[in-house]
Amino acid sequence: MLTEIPSHINKDLSVYENSINLLISFNMRQTALHASQVTKKAMELARRYRMDIEKAESAAVLHDISVIIPNERRVEAAESLGIGLFEEERQFPMILHQRLSRKFASLYFGVEDKEVLDAITCHTTLWQSPTKLDMIVFLADKIAWDQAGDPPYLETLYKGLDVSLERGASHMVRYMMDNKHKLAVVHPWLAGAYEYFMRLEEETP
Ligand SMILES: [Fe+2]
Ligand SMILES: [Fe+2]
Repeated sequence: MLTEIPSHINKDLSVYENSINLLISFNMRQTALHASQVTKKAMELARRYRMDIEKAESAAVLHDISVIIPNERRVEAAESLGIGLFEEERQFPMILHQRLSRKFASLYFGVEDKEVLDAITCHTTLWQSPTKLDMIVFLADKIAWDQAGDPPYLETLYKGLDVSLERGASHMVRYMMDNKHKLAVVHPWLAGAYEYFMRLEEETP
């Protein structure tokens, strides 16, 4: 499957167009719609917090690009691409799509910007000391979630965002950890993000 991907990339089209087209050509219309909604939200957040809008667009449109690899093949795909796996990722390979999407972005879409690649890599779990772009893509993905109706955490997330981007991310991470019984696994990066934000809130209440 990985070898098929380059034939779907048209060098005359933008990263945005190629990403959406690739998802559609693998019959992932729902993910294509989600990617476009996350992109719109990420660009809005980038504008609001005075960050680079183009970087937000690239990271957001590519954040879920590797879902074209089915769950049962993600561990094998990650190993073939040299990704060292956490035990939690072997237990729940769905979560590996964030790290696989980074590889797709660099290998097939020519993305070299470390900030963009990092924001893709941690979009599900966040991690310690996230950048503003990491937080933008993480939160855009949570706001424009891929399920029906409004997410249950939306209000607390927006209240945080009214204070700052960091406070929005902090509220979201806290919500995830307060509800960790609903998560299939607690990824070590999420645990790291939680520690980071709890420390930050103690320092700046
Ligand atoms: Fe995702
Ligand atoms: Fe997503």
